[in-house]
Amino acid sequence: MIGELSPIDKAKYVAARRAADMVQDGMRVGLGTGSTADWMVRRLGERAQQEDLKIKGVPTSTRTAQLAREVGINVVSLDQAGWLDITIDGADEFDGELNLIKGGGGALLQEKIVATASDQMVVIADAGKEVETLGAFPLPIEVIPFGWQTTRTLIEEVLDTMDVLGTSTALRMIGQAPYVTDEGNHILDLHLQRIGNVRQLALVLNQVPGVVENGLFVDICDQIVIGYGDGRVEVRDINEGTTEVDQPTEGGENLFADLAD
Ligand code: A5P
Repeated sequence: MIGELSPIDKAKYVAARRAADMVQDGMRVGLGTGSTADWMVRRLGERAQQEDLKIKGVPTSTRTAQLAREVGINVVSLDQAGWLDITIDGADEFDGELNLIKGGGGALLQEKIVATASDQMVVIADAGKEVETLGAFPLPIEVIPFGWQTTRTLIEEVLDTMDVLGTSTALRMIGQAPYVTDEGNHILDLHLQRIGNVRQLALVLNQVPGVVENGLFVDICDQIVIGYGDGRVEVRDINEGTTEVDQPTEGGENLFADLAD
């Protein structure tokens, strides 16, 4: 199996594993959504079994909820958990201040609620997702289905006044039908190319009637765990201003060994 993993998937795997190992017994953990988060959920499931780790997992999508149950994590709702010790999730882009674009997988609404209700948010990503300025990845906006075309027009008017390079928008589709989120909404993807002021844009977009939430995460992420295809892992902490680098092998053990057939 290891031979089948691309360098990007290996990078996601090592980042996910490193972050999952930050979780301690008794913690209430927000479980992100996406391919990187899937690795993290699997690793937590392994740890729950091997170390008899008693954790409560709050998933950010039905997809993650299903996987978490499959791997034996005790799944609870956010309201049952009340508040979380840590949330670990992927991202589509991140910048030097750990601002994020999220929602490529369509789960941005629950992801933002869960991350905000956590003592700390740890993002896991491959190194290719780091950018100088956010915006090359289309920015997802969750909108309610009622009057979505009017909402789209209003968003485009707002974009004309913002510091962005592109202003085109697209309704996310699955085949011939609009994509529907776990909350029954649609997603508009904004092709902005470059976002000059993420904080301002995040605030202004949420003022448009019909917009439920946007995929900009500003001042939410505390730590980022960046994986590389050779197994290196970098952990940056925005509050402490620290960066640690783990080399590919720990105690001579191959980090990818448990991926082998
Ligand atoms: C899900 O809605 C997203 O926010 C994901 O966290 C993001 O798209 C990262 O996905 P991958 O880990 O699959 O790259």
